Amino acid sequence: MPLTINTPLDMHLHLRDEAMLHNIAKASSDTFSGAIIMPNLVPPVSSKEALIAYKQRILLATNDNSFTPYMTLFFKPSYDKIFLASIKDEITAIKLYPAGITTNSEEGVSGFDIEALRPALEAMSDLEIPLCVHGETNGFVMDREAEFASIYEDLASAFPNLKIIMEHITTKSSVDLLDKYPNLYATITIHHLLITLDDVAGGMLQPHLFCKPIAKRPEDRDALRKVALSAHPKVMFGSDSAPHPKEAKEACGCAAGVFTAPIALQLLAELFDTQDASQENLQAFISGNAQAIYGIAPTDKVITLEKTPFKVPSDYNGVVPMYANEEIAYSIKEIQTSQS
Ligand code: DOR
Ligand code: ZN
Repeated sequence: MPLTINTPLDMHLHLRDEAMLHNIAKASSDTFSGAIIMPNLVPPVSSKEALIAYKQRILLATNDNSFTPYMTLFFKPSYDKIFLASIKDEITAIKLYPAGITTNSEEGVSGFDIEALRPALEAMSDLEIPLCVHGETNGFVMDREAEFASIYEDLASAFPNLKIIMEHITTKSSVDLLDKYPNLYATITIHHLLITLDDVAGGMLQPHLFCKPIAKRPEDRDALRKVALSAHPKVMFGSDSAPHPKEAKEACGCAAGVFTAPIALQLLAELFDTQDASQENLQAFISGNAQAIYGIAPTDKVITLEKTPFKVPSDYNGVVPMYANEEIAYSIKEIQTSQS
């Protein structure tokens, strides 16, 4: 039986810039109604001019009225209320990176002194601008996210009216925070729902599964699956699809990021099917929860999938996707937009 998904949203997406943007943008805009666009360009998107110009370049590359890029600004502690008020209508959220924690995050926050961040975060709270956070310390790689939990707790209690989205969570410790603080939410990727560290490094090293945060233990994946498959109202799908050129992945010194945009919906359909989760929950995880959390109303787009094997291409314009050359169980059969 075909499966339909309405208005899918990707609440964490890297679209990059220039040639890469043009090469991969349609992989998202064809099948999603909208996406939260990450600001970690070089230099990061941290001014109104840069943000508006980047959005224009995205609109040019996607060239699709049925796809909305929801823009984010790269968090700087120096942002004041006047600046934030002036940019509020152009952005959907602000993304905070700890300095140096991942690709192009060197200009992020170092030290995590909440008092130093207070003016900017209070202004965001007053203006109702959500804060998206890459929650990792610079500790031991498997413990970085769990170590960040106390920072999430400090932020959530210090700014109770600020919506804080724990991005791409990978651990049970992050899942446990969701029910502890009313203002904490989370995105979850498809790769963290499918793989563990064993898939990355348990056999031959798999560079195309290497990302930050690194995939964790089976019990962490189980905790993620539990909230995703039950469509916990505070979790949303966010692919963290992060394309890098093949040469940067298949290299001595592999760039972090898994490229899933072209197969995300198919893999989600397969996961919810094999785990006996309902279609209603898939719909909520992939669209409804995000619309409620962010208060957004994207353009309708109906994706029909069918349980027919799809052979994942070896690359999309030089970017190798997850499961390249492998068969996955679901294919996209039809895409209907209000324009079509
Ligand atoms: O693996 C990752 N890649 N994690 C991130 O947080 C950033 C991303 C990228 O931009 O390549
Ligand atoms: Zn990301």
